Amino acid sequence: MDSVEKQQIFDHAKEWTLEAGERIKAQLDKPFKVNTKKDRKDLVTEVDEDTERFFAERIRSTYPNHQVLGEEGLGDNVTSLDGIVWIIDPIDGTMNFVHQQRHFAISVGLYKDGEGIFGLIYNVMTDDLYVAKRGEGAHKNGVLLPKLDQSRKLEDSLLALNHYWSIPNRRFDEKGIHELVRKVRGTRTFGSAALEFAFVAEGIIDGYMTMRLAPWDIAAGIILVNEVGGVTSRVDGSPLNMLKENSVITCNSAIQEEIVNNYIRKK
Ligand code: IPD
Ligand code: CA
Ligand code: CA
Ligand code: CA
Repeated sequence: MDSVEKQQIFDHAKEWTLEAGERIKAQLDKPFKVNTKKDRKDLVTEVDEDTERFFAERIRSTYPNHQVLGEEGLGDNVTSLDGIVWIIDPIDGTMNFVHQQRHFAISVGLYKDGEGIFGLIYNVMTDDLYVAKRGEGAHKNGVLLPKLDQSRKLEDSLLALNHYWSIPNRRFDEKGIHELVRKVRGTRTFGSAALEFAFVAEGIIDGYMTMRLAPWDIAAGIILVNEVGGVTSRVDGSPLNMLKENSVITCNSAIQEEIVNNYIRKK
């Protein structure tokens, strides 16, 4: 992909993301159906589906050779990351969308042969657009985000995690997590993985870790965090598989090893 083609695809991705945001806002003014998927906590609305359909149709008619991997299954049945794949979460933070009508995002990542090319995360209600192109830095609303502060210490860090970490778990030793929570300056839970990645990239939190995320939750965020010098891996430090669910830690690289080695990996 040459730089002209990349820019053209990026411009479309940005235009469609902003348009999708307008559509979501318009649909928030009317009643919409809320359904459940795997269990009673796994919500999906008509608006999630409508938004994913909107992207899939735009992409198919403009780039028929590209594949679409979306949470709601309205894209393609993607089994390989060969070629160009759009990895889309139409609404990340559906529970926030339903309960709060805010704190949710659209996440769009473009991958070529498995490598992240660009990512966009759009906080719809605040109108904040985070974008990153590989090798060209990350921007929030057009302003370049600085590299993350490499002198950051774990004890001065703000870490995003959810309360499932406090429940006994067969894969992780919760004692380590209790010690980690005691060690850091503070913890936060935002309820949108994409926004949590964006906040790590912005440097307003220092890390985010969670036990299970799907490719569409992280596709754009990984690129953003990379561009400011952060790292993303499974919580045991091993590499992610972008076609499967993974546990995820994304953070300032200054604190990654300490978290993984001293608090998560079973000794
Ligand atoms: C969810 C959100 C949430 C995270 C869940 C995700 P969705 O995505 O990112 O913060 O804890 O694991 O599934 O379903 O709202 O797109
Ligand atoms: Ca969902
Ligand atoms: Ca999601
Ligand atoms: Ca979603």
